[in-house]
Amino acid sequence: MTDYYCIVVIVLWPNPNNIYAYTVQAVMMEASSPAKAILFGEHAVVYGEPAIAVALDRRLSIRVRSSDTCRVDGGSLSMRRHRYLRWALNNLWNGEPLEIRTRSQIPGASGLGSSAALSSSIAAILRSLRGEWKPRDVATDAFEIEYNVQGGASPTDTSCSVHGGGILVSFRKESEHLWSISKGERTWHVHNLDPPEMTLVVGFTGRPSLTGRQVAKVRSFHERSGFARETIREIGDLVMEGVDALKDGDMVRIGALMNRNHSLLSILGVNSKELQSLVDAALPYSYGAKLTGAGGGGSMIALTDKPEKVASLLKARGGKPYIVRVSMVGCEVHGT
Ligand code: PMV
Repeated sequence: MTDYYCIVVIVLWPNPNNIYAYTVQAVMMEASSPAKAILFGEHAVVYGEPAIAVALDRRLSIRVRSSDTCRVDGGSLSMRRHRYLRWALNNLWNGEPLEIRTRSQIPGASGLGSSAALSSSIAAILRSLRGEWKPRDVATDAFEIEYNVQGGASPTDTSCSVHGGGILVSFRKESEHLWSISKGERTWHVHNLDPPEMTLVVGFTGRPSLTGRQVAKVRSFHERSGFARETIREIGDLVMEGVDALKDGDMVRIGALMNRNHSLLSILGVNSKELQSLVDAALPYSYGAKLTGAGGGGSMIALTDKPEKVASLLKARGGKPYIVRVSMVGCEVHGT
């Protein structure tokens, strides 16, 4: 577990009656959490199939200290711009007002988990300020934040951001079980899955990925089509093959499975012209490539050992490339 500490500055000052009074002047605490990429199983995970996600070496951090009023990045807490922080403060915190500063290397609405990293970081800070910090509790709080703000989510992104490295989310308990998260009748079991060293190139289409809209689209297809349900089951089988390929560090097999997963996601209707153009550009120099996350926009990922080449090809097609490596560092909290 991550070590953390918190310094509470206690200030003494003489009051008019010459009696010393105590106040907590500042609580400084910083948390940071990684971006994530779903390697296999997005959308299918909503219907009880497994999914695999990996943490990436781009991070979002937030710093808090006590204040007279709640403030975020120098402005007031906005209903529209700060929906995640607002939900967290309203529902998971009843202490004094906090001033929050955010810093991010993760492009927003890109399918790379910026909201999961934000939810994990604020959840970790609020737990720490209350004196407890267990990854499983932070993962549960972070999931609740995302679920409530987005009106639905699986715990894949938030658990990956909290744990770091790789995770397998499934509806059956497997080996290396980390924690389980329930919502309604559903329970997701989250497992550690050690990923091999991998370089990925993320290609952001520049078009935001609206998770809720894509999930609704797949849901309606799933309800009316046996073919959609069969496709989703096929994705589930492929994810379990992915577990073996990752454990073996077999890049060729991982790449082939990514390609197959991309085709099955296209059948479900969440591919787009822009995503396909980036996938096509990356493929000649990659083991495999696929859209990642909800699709419809957002990002694709390519597994490659020629990251510079792939990045330049994605750029030439109008994508915004990010060369990333899988990171073993999950959510961290530090007092300052
Ligand atoms: O758009 P993202 O990166 O948050 O991924 C969504 C993944 C889905 O499987 C489509 C939905 C979910 O909550 O698991």
